[in-house]
Amino acid sequence: MKPAYRMPTRVLFGEGSFRSLRALPALAHARSVALLTGRRSAEECGTTERLRASLGGLEIHHFSGVPSHPTPDDLRTFAAHLRGVACEAVIAVGGGSVIDVAKGAAYCCRHGHRPFGIPAMSSGGPLSMIAVPTTAGTGAEVTPFATFWDLSSKQKLSLDHPSMFPEDALVDPELTASMPPELTAATGMDALTQACEAYWNVNAGPTSDGHALRAVKLLADGLVRAVRDGQDRSARSDVALGSLSAGLAFSNTRTTACHSLSYPMTIHWGVPHGRAVGITLPEVLALNAAAMDPGPRREAFCEALGVASIDDGPRRLRGLMTECGVATRLSKLGIDSSGIEVIAREGLRYDRMGNNPHAFTLDAARELLRSIL
Ligand SMILES: [Fe+2]
Repeated sequence: MKPAYRMPTRVLFGEGSFRSLRALPALAHARSVALLTGRRSAEECGTTERLRASLGGLEIHHFSGVPSHPTPDDLRTFAAHLRGVACEAVIAVGGGSVIDVAKGAAYCCRHGHRPFGIPAMSSGGPLSMIAVPTTAGTGAEVTPFATFWDLSSKQKLSLDHPSMFPEDALVDPELTASMPPELTAATGMDALTQACEAYWNVNAGPTSDGHALRAVKLLADGLVRAVRDGQDRSARSDVALGSLSAGLAFSNTRTTACHSLSYPMTIHWGVPHGRAVGITLPEVLALNAAAMDPGPRREAFCEALGVASIDDGPRRLRGLMTECGVATRLSKLGIDSSGIEVIAREGLRYDRMGNNPHAFTLDAARELLRSIL
């Protein structure tokens, strides 16, 4: 029997919902909070100031500077900051990397967990975690995972623990309105890939299917519109809800071949996550289509993607990617034929591959990558 679907995170979604931050149950008895943001963007577009204003009456310890590929050192640094201030909640405002660092640090401080050799640093009290995404793609606000990168030893490191689900996710599409088209496209492709991977996943179930189908439909309909016009509020709302829905789906199924093959691209060529996972999406769909039983479940996926038949799926995805300005060829990411062996060999190592319905061999991975050179 498959495990039951589990989602302990309370979700508040909607335009303007950031103004309700102070009213979240996780802050009901808080006097002091830690606020974590990224390098610049949240400050530059005024998000941090607006959130500070909405946190009236609370003492705020603000830490910024989380990079786009956080390392175990970044986790260690923020965990130490968190340990050094007496606060009842940590609020992460930013993209997936900011939310991941906050989740990881709260995990270290809550029970003295010691990932990556980080010294025990129990905070000695309950610590709530609130995720406020400012991009629409990673779904990190509703997952129990966090990703870190050790670029010197060329390794991707993961934390994955049930206690890492945030207490609250506050998803306000308005906060994504200042994303430039390239970031909208790349993060949106992460969400669309996660939604597809949750649906064809060997761990899929009826609850994750519902979230995944909603995500595929919203993203297939809305991503191109959001990339073309960042001020299109309806498109921003569709993509934000699509990203959240994808997160609700893959939080329980985890990801598959696209993510597995993406990690070497990011580690060795610095390819942004959304572009790296998206580039194999059409080809992985073509392989997995055969593993998806013909019938109502496959029809529901086709309907969400907006195609008459599963055979039209890869072409539909490539068209969508082209309209969004996202590469469909490895050469456009700076990867030539000499990279195929590295990506195939290292990409097969990740356990995500075991969630893929089509059983990948090394030869199958090489062939797939060669077809998109
Ligand atoms: Fe992802």
